[in-house]
Amino acid sequence: MLDLNVINQIKDYAKVNNVPIMTDSGIYYLIKYITKNKVKRVLEIGTAIGYSAIMMCSADPELTVTTIERDEKRYLEALKNIKKLKLEERIHLIYNDALEVKIDDFYDLIVIDAAKAQNQKFFEKFEKNLFEDGTIITDNMKFHGLVEKNLDEIESRNLRQLVHKIKDYITFLKTNKKYETEFLDIGDGLAISKKV
Ligand SMILES: C[S@@+](CC[C@H](N)C(=O)[O-])C[C@H]1O[C@@H](n2cnc3c(N)ncnc32)[C@H](O)[C@@H]1O
Repeated sequence: MLDLNVINQIKDYAKVNNVPIMTDSGIYYLIKYITKNKVKRVLEIGTAIGYSAIMMCSADPELTVTTIERDEKRYLEALKNIKKLKLEERIHLIYNDALEVKIDDFYDLIVIDAAKAQNQKFFEKFEKNLFEDGTIITDNMKFHGLVEKNLDEIESRNLRQLVHKIKDYITFLKTNKKYETEFLDIGDGLAISKKV
C-alpha cells in the first residue's frame, strides 16, 4: 500500500507548481486496466514528478515502470518522490528527451503523456518495444475540450497548431490498421490502442 500522505503531498506540489498530472479518473482507469490485463511492464513517456508511475505501481506489486522525463527539475522531484515511497527497485527513471533515448526492452503497456505535438513521433518510435498483445495508451486526447472546437475558434496561433497536431494524431490512430483504437471520455480523454 502506498503512503496516502505522500501521495497527497505529491498532488499538492503539482498544483502549487503547475505541474500537469493525470486526472484521478485517468489514473483509476490505468490502475484498473493494469489489474484486469495482468500488465507487468510499463514504459511511460512523460514522468513529470512521478505521480502516474507511482500510482500505476499501486495496481500490482510485481509491476515495474520505466519512465522518461527531460525536464531536470521535474526529474529530480520524481527521484525524491520515488525514494520516499521506496519504489526505486520498481521505477526506472530516465532523464533525457524520449526522442533521444534508445530502449531495447519490451513492454505490455506504453503510456504516452509528454509533449502533445509529438504524440505520433513517440508512438512510431516506441511501438517496436511493445509485446505482440501490447497496448499504447495516450492521454489528453480532448486537450481540455479544445479538440472538439473548430480551429478558427482558437485565438492563439500556438494553441491552434497544437490542437491541429492532436487532431492529426487522432486521424493517424483511426487509420492505423495495425491497431484498434478506442477513444474514451475519461479524464482529459484517453486513446487505447491495441495491437491487432
Ligand atoms: C503531462 S506531464 C506528465 C504527467 C505524468 N505522466 C503524471 O500524470 O504524473 C508531461 C511531461 O512530459 C515531459 N516531456 C515532454 N516532452 C518530453 C520528451 N520529448 N521527452 C521526455 N519528457 C518529455 C514534460 O517535461 C512533462 O513533465
